[in-house]
Amino acid sequence: QRSLLGLKDLGKEEIESILERAAYWENHPVKVHSGQQGKFAANMFFENSTRTRFSFEVAEKRLGAEVINFSAAASSVEKGESIYDTVRTLESMGIDVGVIRLKPTGLLAELSSSIKVPLINAGDGNNEHPTQALLDLYTMRKQFGSLSGLNVAIVGDILHSRVARSNLWALRKFGANVSFCAPPNMQAPELDAPYITMDEALKADVVMMLRVQLERHESGMLKSAEAYREEYGLTVERAQRIAKHAIIMHPAPVNRDVEIDGELVEHPQSRIFPQMENGVPVRMAVIERALS
Ligand code: CP
Repeated sequence: QRSLLGLKDLGKEEIESILERAAYWENHPVKVHSGQQGKFAANMFFENSTRTRFSFEVAEKRLGAEVINFSAAASSVEKGESIYDTVRTLESMGIDVGVIRLKPTGLLAELSSSIKVPLINAGDGNNEHPTQALLDLYTMRKQFGSLSGLNVAIVGDILHSRVARSNLWALRKFGANVSFCAPPNMQAPELDAPYITMDEALKADVVMMLRVQLERHESGMLKSAEAYREEYGLTVERAQRIAKHAIIMHPAPVNRDVEIDGELVEHPQSRIFPQMENGVPVRMAVIERALS
């Protein structure tokens, strides 16, 4: 079974082959293919999502699969049914692949040992968000050709970020230099990456801004949005100091005028919307891999 639980333990060659297949799909713009006709994909989101959920749905439909969308708020989870029983229920109905987003960290690995269909991690707690990192790597490769020696500065709420973790572990496999920049109370000391200042982060080839994840904060973590922007935000003034060849990334959703100024979201050096566009072929490659 070809689950995708994370990138930490996935080989460089496997990642490479997903990225290559994504390029194939990007270059075959026929809207709907028939390769996965007759297969059923279930998107099981126990936490809210816009980009990941809908780009998986578009990817599955473009591959010709039948799509079932499950959202916890409109399900028997509201009556107290467990995540395990919910996933087993969909499995017993004959799904061929499950895309799953969970709030708790660690539960996905446990689930995948008792569920037989391939599971794809669409974000689990602050652990991993592998398809986000794959589309980030894909975006960087499109821009720079190679990831080797690329300086990537990841700025913001590292502590709560599954995107930072998946990117760190995947980018390292390709020889990129990853640094973090974060306020002391949003750092993750268990991750083996150097912390740099905001001034240093602006010298990177890729300045990846992260959302301040207020929904995961303990009270008082963020003193004020203005103070955060002042110290760690990518402001219009700071963006003028990044290199001409550098790009700005952000997984979105964006807190405009907190971690990044609103007018930078569609700046010529921003790749925020291209990241979303690249999510579809990347997820087509991941779904196809799971169904093959
Ligand atoms: N980037 C990302 O995971 O966005 P969503 O939470 O909207 O899926």
